[in-house]
Amino acid sequence: MARPGKVTVVGAGFYGSTTAQRLAEYDIFDEVVLTDIIEGRPEGLALDLNQSRPIEDFETRVTGQTTSAGGDGYQAIAGSGIVIITAGLARKPGMSRMDLIETNARIVRAVTEQVAEHAPDAVLIVVSNPLDEMTALAARVSGFPATRVLGQAGMLDTARFSNFVAGKLGVPVGSVRTLTLGSHGDTMVPVPSACTVDGRPLTELLPAADLEDLVTRTRNGGAEVVDLLKTGSAYYAPSAAAARMARAVAEDTGAVLPVCAWVDGPYGISGVYLGVEAEVGAAGVRRVVERDLTDGELAGLRAAAEAVRAKQADVAGL
Ligand code: 2OP
Repeated sequence: MARPGKVTVVGAGFYGSTTAQRLAEYDIFDEVVLTDIIEGRPEGLALDLNQSRPIEDFETRVTGQTTSAGGDGYQAIAGSGIVIITAGLARKPGMSRMDLIETNARIVRAVTEQVAEHAPDAVLIVVSNPLDEMTALAARVSGFPATRVLGQAGMLDTARFSNFVAGKLGVPVGSVRTLTLGSHGDTMVPVPSACTVDGRPLTELLPAADLEDLVTRTRNGGAEVVDLLKTGSAYYAPSAAAARMARAVAEDTGAVLPVCAWVDGPYGISGVYLGVEAEVGAAGVRRVVERDLTDGELAGLRAAAEAVRAKQADVAGL
């Protein structure tokens, strides 16, 4: 089996450690590195994950590494082809993702400086919130080409939407195709015109009011989990999405995935990180894929672009 090398997950909270587990269990990498600033946590989780190898039957080695804010320990990520940045605080009930912006901007900036120094050729996949802003910040701080920095959100939001549709209609999730674009926040744009069940348009299968309810639930999908958990936010579906993105990069598949990517031209939108569909491969984003949208969906996407553009400008100074 081809082994595309080394992938790093920065941040060993639930999101990061679950992502590391998924990547290791794919059994396609030589090494998964998991880092955190909490001393011993990444080493302990790595030891535990490695001890699951004979049972889960994977050869990928997991390395845990405590890092300091000053950069100690980052040598362990050298040679990584992919770095997934999960560092930062998660929401608490009642908080919006945007409430995290100042704290997480400081954390993402510091982490990205170290990542850029120690893994200068990596593709960066950012998952910290607020997602679109943190992706733009990581791109700016790293100095990497815009196509080599992606954010994870569209796959997660789309998966939530598909799950809700499957539940509502009582059909297998595998028969459902849905799509969300725009931001990973209030200006998320679920795209009913792209949604099908066994190839049939979703708009023919659900009354408009029911569809609107599912769209609203999708837009609030993260908050619904936060409210139930009370401490921390979702991680099973988010980590599944981040790991799949990394796999598309590692295997250079060219899969078209909903991701946060640099958009400069498609949909008449220029110069902003935004949730769109993109072909993902070894170099990151090969190209943004533009699809036909209804007038309303296109207006929503353009409004989302302007909203995140303003916030991305604010965050540059944080
Ligand atoms: C969520 O929506 C973690 O932002 C993530 O659950």
